[in-house]
Amino acid sequence: MNILLIGSGGREHALAWKIVQSKLCKKLYCAPGNAGIARHAELVPLDIADHAAIAKFCRDKRIELVVVGPEGPLVAGIVDDLEAEGILTFGPSKDAAQLEGSKAFTKDLCAEFGIPTAAYARFNNAPKAKAYARAQGAPIVVKADGLAAGKGVTVAMTVEEACAAIDDCFEGSFGAAGAEVVIEEYMEGEEASLFALCDGQTALLFGTAQDHKRVGEGDTGPNTGGMGAYSPAPVLDEATISEVMSEIIVPTLAAMHHRGMEFHGILYAGLMLTADGPRLIEYNVRFGDPECQVLMPRLKGDIIEFMIAAIEGDLLSVEPEWAEETALSVVMASKGYPGAYGKGSAIAGIEAAEATGAIVFHAGTAEEDGRIVANGGRVLNVTALGASVEEAQARAYAGVDAIDWPEGFCRRDIGWRALAGR
Ligand code: AMP
Ligand code: GLY
Repeated sequence: MNILLIGSGGREHALAWKIVQSKLCKKLYCAPGNAGIARHAELVPLDIADHAAIAKFCRDKRIELVVVGPEGPLVAGIVDDLEAEGILTFGPSKDAAQLEGSKAFTKDLCAEFGIPTAAYARFNNAPKAKAYARAQGAPIVVKADGLAAGKGVTVAMTVEEACAAIDDCFEGSFGAAGAEVVIEEYMEGEEASLFALCDGQTALLFGTAQDHKRVGEGDTGPNTGGMGAYSPAPVLDEATISEVMSEIIVPTLAAMHHRGMEFHGILYAGLMLTADGPRLIEYNVRFGDPECQVLMPRLKGDIIEFMIAAIEGDLLSVEPEWAEETALSVVMASKGYPGAYGKGSAIAGIEAAEATGAIVFHAGTAEEDGRIVANGGRVLNVTALGASVEEAQARAYAGVDAIDWPEGFCRRDIGWRALAGR
């Protein structure tokens, strides 16, 4: 079949790499893509916010399946718009994507159906929100309701910090996403992610991972989209996974069904493993980035078969299998990220990195006059498999060390928590 992939990050490069291994894939297109995806797919310069233009492209090119990488188009209803034209599309509907698009929606759902998460309250004005934060005391967590590109959450260690975050939201720092604020109880524990492939009724475990969100070594400094990840997450043992599936994922799927908003696609649970058991931090309605880059190299079997089964409500007929090995991915970013950074610097050594056995997934890259140049904040994901976290880490950094890009940087400690056995 002809397939269109939407997105341009490392996640989409990992998906493209896996999709072209499918026997069902005849031709892959990607909008807008990047220089790495161009090795597997024909890039098309479509505006991914223009659903009518995407639908027209699908008709013209006889696209039979669209795979949506990022949350933006899902929350904007791309699945509804393409399915209305009869185009199979992998991902949740606009209603179901509220699980990521509105924190208040998800918190209300959890409260109604008894899904374990932090206690919370919702506010649409600053004075009431601040009074609540003062009454609860710190530490406390302040979240803009809507999509804020990962920047809408403040873990406040003092009430003053919480009040400043509340002002920020209502003064428009996050645009419409901050018109409502959710204030949450602070949870303590180790964080991990669990992915479930869902077909509306059935949820299949689709891998676990942990990422490193902070820019600095030892998990310090500002938050980023993710500086590295590994899969599986050693902290998620079998008993915890089955508790997460039965207490969090399955009840969520049932609740969404009950609301007439069946969830199809990838449900990505951000979890806090507290002393009282696993609790939901938040949902995302798509693969993680860079978590996808460590899931795809471990997945055996045909990703397109799994995606079609999820769309068609047929997941009981498939069974994903995973390589026993650990996959670990190191993000190489432009110096300055997550603040201001330059674009256009040349990157050499990608082939040398791949010759070490690593897989180099591209994120913000472009090709200029036959050279690969940096074109974003997060630029490369150097990924390797190994029999242990230690071996995967050593192999990934051997790949990193083959790359010649003076304007880039990476953390040297991806995987430290797993190695410390914590
Ligand atoms: P999010 O953007 O929702 O993933 O949140 C960003 C980060 O904030 C999470 O990865 C957690 O580290 C932290 N966080 C969010 N909610 C809570 C909470 N209720 N308690 C403690 N930490 C939290
Ligand atoms: N790595 C976090 C995310 O994809 O949301």
